[in-house]
Amino acid sequence: MDSNNFAVFISGRGSNLFSILKKEREEKIRGKVSFVYSNRRSAPGLAIAQQFNKDYYTFPYNDENEKRLLDKLKRNRVKLIVLAGFMKVLSHEFIERFKGHIINIHPSLLPAFPGLNAQEQSFNYGSKISGLSIHFVDTSLDGGPVIFQKAVDISDLTHIEDIEKRILVYEHRYYYQIIDKLLNEKWELKGRNFFWNE
Ligand code: GRF
Repeated sequence: MDSNNFAVFISGRGSNLFSILKKEREEKIRGKVSFVYSNRRSAPGLAIAQQFNKDYYTFPYNDENEKRLLDKLKRNRVKLIVLAGFMKVLSHEFIERFKGHIINIHPSLLPAFPGLNAQEQSFNYGSKISGLSIHFVDTSLDGGPVIFQKAVDISDLTHIEDIEKRILVYEHRYYYQIIDKLLNEKWELKGRNFFWNE
């Protein structure tokens, strides 16, 4: 994996995908999106991949198709797999194989509110601060080592949708920067602790 190629996996809207492809086009990411994969054919994000002239693949994620995916990752010498709203749990084998090379973005300050509807969970809990976490994917649910977090004040917001919107702005601001750094800079993981080697 000596390239700077990365792949983006989505399942839905694709606003993070859009921001990543835009930054790639603006040369704000020192790396290249090799392809986009969606496990859902109806994902609106696929139209974004098309708009940016990216190769994209859509097939359900299962044992059989995992082989197809592995083949595409290998052929494109993909160094990093970026999950951006990918709603399927990857197999243990897949995760082991790409350990340290799969990242995800989650709209809460983990370990608070893992899983689905994190913003709704924060709202229902009555949190005043929420945020986003970018983390490595391991076999736990949103529980891999944290690479980056940004706290976001939500104390003035009274609707879940507004929390989603506010956090999303920061997702788009930071995800591409972390992708760029992971592809180009040195880092290390000591246990669960992630450090940039600057
Ligand atoms: C984002 O809120 C992300 O944090 C979460 O899923 C959502 C995906 O949104 N993992 P989009 O498809 O990138 O618009």
